[in-house]
Amino acid sequence: MPGTNEAAQAITAAAVDSFRDTPDPRLRELLQGLVRHLHGYVRELRPTIPEWEYAVDYLTAVGQKCDPTRQEFILLSDVLGVSMLVETLNEQGGGTESTVLGPFHMVESPQRASGDSIDLLGGDKPCVVSVRVTSADGTPLTGASVDVWQCTEDGFYDVQQPDVQPPGNGRGLFPTDDEGRVWFRTVIPSHYPIPTDGPVGVLLDASERHPYRPAHIHFIVEADGHRPLTTHIFVADGPYLDSDAVFAVKESLVVDFAQVDDEDKARQYRVTAPFRLAEIDIAIEPETPKDAR
Ligand code: BEZ
Ligand code: FE
Repeated sequence: MPGTNEAAQAITAAAVDSFRDTPDPRLRELLQGLVRHLHGYVRELRPTIPEWEYAVDYLTAVGQKCDPTRQEFILLSDVLGVSMLVETLNEQGGGTESTVLGPFHMVESPQRASGDSIDLLGGDKPCVVSVRVTSADGTPLTGASVDVWQCTEDGFYDVQQPDVQPPGNGRGLFPTDDEGRVWFRTVIPSHYPIPTDGPVGVLLDASERHPYRPAHIHFIVEADGHRPLTTHIFVADGPYLDSDAVFAVKESLVVDFAQVDDEDKARQYRVTAPFRLAEIDIAIEPETPKDAR
């Protein structure tokens, strides 16, 4: 009978069963699990028809907000904590911890050489980041690629300010040297609000959540025979480390950007003193047969 528990169970069973012939077993598992969990949510919370229509309109608006430089679905996954959950459950341990990709890696980083500056605006808080890439056992990785992106001192990525920032500002794709090292000049990034002018902003507003992320620099590190690592380093003395809007802070990724006053060291790094220096190791995990699936 319509509306009864048995009728509801029969709908769930039929929807799960409709995917039984999906040839790819993993796809079958994912689709049947999705139906089971979605139906469980509906059964538990019993959305009204207007609430369901609101949800459909909301997801429609999320899709309509997406374009080549704006990824509202990633943002939604981020503020719901799903991106961070997927990252964390996929970690195997043994290397540097991962964290979210975020929506601002939608353009290719320009190729740069060690020592280059990624600050094309000449900002006034000079900073040097020095990275050593190793395999999980500590062996330095020569020729690894280190893809970096960050916002300005004012808290904006280049793609958010096409009239103010040149494309590629705050971005660089660097190869490591024969000791696994690379360094670059930049500015200290600011904390910033994630974009709130779309449906994700409506959600944060309705739930009285703030939109801020603590200051950070993004990395994707890749090397032959290793699992790619997507991570950040967070600036240790900034705000929002304990309330990141996308739940992405891990203690091990919080880094001291030490102030350096030494003129010789400044000359060595081609900056003026005082400057801030972050020296980090990034360890990536060797690929396993499971990764080849
Ligand atoms: C970012 O760090 O670029 C970011 C991550 C998640 C949501 C918004 C921005
Ligand atoms: Fe970011």
